[in-house]
Amino acid sequence: AVATITLDRAFRVGPVDRRLFGTFVEHMGRCVYTGIYEPDHPTADAGGFRGDVAALVRELGPTVVRYPGGNFVSGYRWEDGIGPQADRPRRLDLAWKAIETNAVGVDEFTAWCRTVGMDPIMAVNLGTRGVQEAVDLLEYCNHPEGTALSDLRRAHGAKEPHDIKVWCLGNELDGPWQVGHKTADEYGRLAAETARAMRMVDPGIELVACGSSNSRMPTFGAWEATTLEHCYDLVDYVSLHTYYDPLPTDLPTFLASSVDLDRMIDAVVATADAVGARLKSRRRLRLSVDEWNVWHQSRFEGQDARTYGDEPALIEDVYDVADAVVVGSLLITLLRHADRVGIACQAQLVNVIAPILTQAGGGAWTQTIFHPFAQAARWARGEVLLVQPSVESYESALHGDVPLLDATATYDEETGEVTVLCANRSTDEATELRADLRGLGGSCRVVEATVLSDDDVRATNTEQQPDRVIPRTLPDVTVDGGQLRAQLPPVSWAVIRLT
Ligand code: AHR
Repeated sequence: AVATITLDRAFRVGPVDRRLFGTFVEHMGRCVYTGIYEPDHPTADAGGFRGDVAALVRELGPTVVRYPGGNFVSGYRWEDGIGPQADRPRRLDLAWKAIETNAVGVDEFTAWCRTVGMDPIMAVNLGTRGVQEAVDLLEYCNHPEGTALSDLRRAHGAKEPHDIKVWCLGNELDGPWQVGHKTADEYGRLAAETARAMRMVDPGIELVACGSSNSRMPTFGAWEATTLEHCYDLVDYVSLHTYYDPLPTDLPTFLASSVDLDRMIDAVVATADAVGARLKSRRRLRLSVDEWNVWHQSRFEGQDARTYGDEPALIEDVYDVADAVVVGSLLITLLRHADRVGIACQAQLVNVIAPILTQAGGGAWTQTIFHPFAQAARWARGEVLLVQPSVESYESALHGDVPLLDATATYDEETGEVTVLCANRSTDEATELRADLRGLGGSCRVVEATVLSDDDVRATNTEQQPDRVIPRTLPDVTVDGGQLRAQLPPVSWAVIRLT
């Protein structure tokens, strides 16, 4: 197949918010304990955080990190995680049937974030708790000094406020699995009153209201409409969560997963804007896609039927080439909606459906899905250009007509660099990319062209072979007479950088 795109600096979607390259750390499975934190590990720093993992996180390059859950947060008492570690209580974590030791809490986590170059996004518990506890946590974190809670933080060693800008008002409260699950009216009221009080503590914060847990929820759309009727003028973002499972479907359908995200984003934007219009509000909410990823969910069925125990391994997905291509196309979709999507967090960071895996007491290595994220976070900067591939489509079982090529591009005015990001969804043939570069002005040259693909779409990385699947040089990329040509292998993710 041949895919043509036109790149023109004049046609832009919007600026790339750096918070699109966010990640997520939940107290779940081995994400925190033996993931980022393991005091006995040979590489651990003075605070007990693994140095080998921190180095890989820096290489991945996430800008923000949502914390501490997830389903976990809906039963969490943040006060358990502050003060001398020896005094911290062990608690039942109802969400994941685990024992939470509270060895890591908000002070340690925030300090760690700064060392790896990320800003924390904090979620408050609106499952079993409410306005007062959310306000207390905010005061503890962000108030400079001179109150009981801010002075307590200082006494615990954090002299400066944590200065956490973005706060999530609960997690997936539309889901019956959520501890403290609520109706849309109940949640909308609680979110509104929590937001109002939190803004009284710190008017500089930004707030995220819970949207739907996925687009298949029976309440999808209605949930957003009802909850936002209550809290529209008090929040800045509405969240959406989405995971894609390759197992119940065929490969071409799985490769089309980003079509679902695309439609979900359009639907939430339309719903939020409709509420705004009804309320005669001038504000326009943005979206926070604060949980997204590939998750082989059906492989882990029954894991929640466990009994309580320390540090259980949960949903430690091993990702292959096809998974990486889908992650790439989900990143493309997020960028294509840069005008309305301001935050996105890939779930999660380490071990739990994650780009980084660890052995307790052993090594840390990167999965296939690490690479599209790292490349996009590093190179997709500036403004997103409007890119509309003209290419053949195929019929997929779940998503209808799907173009064989997914693509977007960014233009960085400061460096003059253009980055083209593409996913070839064809399972059996190369797609020839032809990009008209005349709208970029002057003569363009290729700085770097890489591709992630493999003869075996099921190939994975392992501790012994962490570089089995990585981006490699894409050969024979030419620019001639203002046209770029490249051959994109089947089931591949490519990044072409131009200047
Ligand atoms: O990321 C794993 C879980 O998926 C989160 O705890 C929850 O919010 C979602 O359902």
